[in-house]
Amino acid sequence: MIKSSLQSVPLLSVENVTKRFGALVAVKDVSFQMDLGEILGLIGPNGAGKSTLFNIIAGKYNPDSGRITFEGKRIDGKRAFEVCRLGICRTYQLVKPFLSETVLENVLLGSIFGSAEDARDPEAEAERAISLTGLQEIKTKYVSTLPFIDRRRVELARAIATGAKLVLLDEPMAGLNPVEVGQFTQIIKKIHSSGVSVFIVEHVMHAIMSISTRIIVLDHGEKIAEGSPEEVSKNSKVIQVYLGG
Ligand SMILES: Nc1ncnc2c1ncn2[C@@H]1O[C@H](COP(=O)(O)OP(=O)(O)OP(=O)(O)O)[C@@H](O)[C@H]1O
Ligand SMILES: [Mg+2]
Repeated sequence: MIKSSLQSVPLLSVENVTKRFGALVAVKDVSFQMDLGEILGLIGPNGAGKSTLFNIIAGKYNPDSGRITFEGKRIDGKRAFEVCRLGICRTYQLVKPFLSETVLENVLLGSIFGSAEDARDPEAEAERAISLTGLQEIKTKYVSTLPFIDRRRVELARAIATGAKLVLLDEPMAGLNPVEVGQFTQIIKKIHSSGVSVFIVEHVMHAIMSISTRIIVLDHGEKIAEGSPEEVSKNSKVIQVYLGG
């Protein structure tokens, strides 16, 4: 008998994806799948191709070859707003909130423009995202007045407010101190518990290892390992890449 899990479609499927910038192969023949409800971690040294892979999935770049499906639908070649409306939303390595708007206005931009479903209530979606990221107390403040960690929360809330089924988080903890890393880890767990699947790039190793259900490792554009955090941390190729052995 075929198990039902074998018949189900993966949430995200990346098949043999390659992306070149001139002579540089930034992502090389990368394949993997992600299931609904996972927190999938993506690690690798600087320049490994992590952000490029996110950019391809999120529709900023077309791959030179390969295919990507989300809930069984082909998404490579679609534009960023189309991918967002299908349910994938990303945050950026460099924080980009609208500084002259309030927290609520920033988050409303996500719920108004990012959503596929006209029937959704943008204000309720924004409030839900604000609550999940712990921004209730400061939702009327201008983002320009907020410390860095709160600007990161706003970015995350804006992505959640789109009604995303999958969020791509590119180094959400960069620049945070250890206490803030702990707070942000809790926020990501809360978002995950609310039913959102999470694909996260992070250099803060203890955080990504503790939060992820599975990890993919890239080096020079190639996938060199995939497995549980424990498996990956014992993998000799991964150790070599990180320790430069
Ligand atoms: N738009 C671009 N044009 C040309 N080269 C690019 C472009 N974007 C990325 N690259 C190159 O592709 C490679 C992969 O870059 P990418 O930003 O994906 O790495 P990364 O794994 O996210 O690194 P980091 O950990 O430093 O953020 C690098 O050599 C980078 O210089
Ligand atoms: Mg990057």
